[in-house]
This record gives sequence, C-alpha cells and structure tokens, in this order.
Amino acid sequence: MILAANFKMNHTRASTKLYIDRLQICGKPENIQIYLFPPFTALDRYESVAVIGAQNGYPARNGSYTGEIGLEQLEEFEIKTILLGHSERRHLLGEDQEFIAKKFDFYKQAGFEIFYCVGETLEVRKSGSKELMEAYLEAQLEGIDTAYEKLVIAYEPVWAIGTGQSATPQDIQEALAYLRTKSGAPLLYGGSVKPQNIAQILEISECDGALIGTASWDVEQFCEMIQIAKEL
Ligand code: 13P
Repeated sequence: MILAANFKMNHTRASTKLYIDRLQICGKPENIQIYLFPPFTALDRYESVAVIGAQNGYPARNGSYTGEIGLEQLEEFEIKTILLGHSERRHLLGEDQEFIAKKFDFYKQAGFEIFYCVGETLEVRKSGSKELMEAYLEAQLEGIDTAYEKLVIAYEPVWAIGTGQSATPQDIQEALAYLRTKSGAPLLYGGSVKPQNIAQILEISECDGALIGTASWDVEQFCEMIQIAKEL
C-alpha cells in the first residue's frame, strides 16, 4: 500500500526537516510505502522512512528555462520520483496534455518513478455520463506509457481536491475499475483524504493507496493515517 503526502506550496525547508524527523518516530509499517513531495526549496538527501519526490520537473537536463528545475537539479539530491499531471498544474498553471506527455517521456527515459495524476472536472462529474467521464480520463492518458513499470496512477477528481468533499467509495471504485482496464500500475485515490475517511477509501477494491494534500501537511495527521492503514 502507498501513502503519499503532497505538500504543494506548503512547508519550508526548516519545517520539512522537523516533519521528517517526526515521521521517523512514527515509523514505517512493513505493508506501507511512504512518499513525500515537498516544495523544491525543501528538497535534500534526507535520512527518511519516506521516499522523497519532486512535485514537478521541466523536461530537460538543464537550460534556459527561467523559473523551472530540471534533471540536473533533481539528481543533486538523488530524487528519482516525480509527480506529473496534477490537476493544479493542468488547470491553474495551464499545462496541456502534450506538454505533460513530454515530461512523462523525459522522466521515464531518466528512469524515474512517476506518480501520474488524472481526474475529471465538476462539470464532467455533474453530467452523470459514464462515457463522458471515461473519455475525459482517457484523454488524460494520451501519450502516456501506461505499461511503464515505474508508474503509479493517482485518480484525483478536481472537485474533490482541497474541498473537504471526498468522492464516494462508489465513484472511486468505478473510476479505478476503469483505470484498471488501461494499466496494471498501482492505483491511488486523492481528494480530501483524511483520518476520518481513509480506512473506507483504502478498503475499495483496486485502491492501492492514497495521495494526500491538506491532511498530510500536519505530520500528526499523516502519522495517524499511517497507523490506520497499518491496521487494514
Ligand atoms: P487534498 O487532500 O487537499 O484534497 O489534495 C489532494 C491532492 O491534490 C493531492 O495531490
């Protein structure tokens, strides 16, 4: 089972270090793989029970790409895991599928483990159409090697992210079942996962773990979720 914390634009270098220290005490149950995606400024070679990944990366080793970081900068900290296709990058930062697929290909060539996010908008969800929903998810897999052996897919419906309103177990089960027809990769759910609902989510068939934003920023809550997952 995988539990991953996406810090997004939260935590500093100093607070990430404290977080990682506390996480060591919390420990790593045998059945769980833990991942942390801190902001770029907090990346380092940490001694940690968690694998440290990057939230993004430009598809180049280095070069004239102001404001971006590439493979060379990630290699300095031995980062070998990357999050791509997150809805905030798609919808707030305007990344299109072609660019995301280019990043995917580049980091795949570099041998990275890739956490790849997909998820429908509220409009698509509200349509109630299974066909529309599946076509939307399928379009987000365009140009992506779904057979890549170091791929993890996270289903994160846009409307459930940061809203406190998680998708229902049935919604999640249906989306994961569809994604399972496309890939043998571990499938995660993300979107308002918290200590109160994580057990129910992890028990969904085809759900191999969770990608957690808000509730993971407090290390005590993240530890609590690790403990809950350990008991399942
Ligand atoms: P929240 O847990 O804050 O809804 O965020 C989910 C997410 O976007 C993880 O990548």
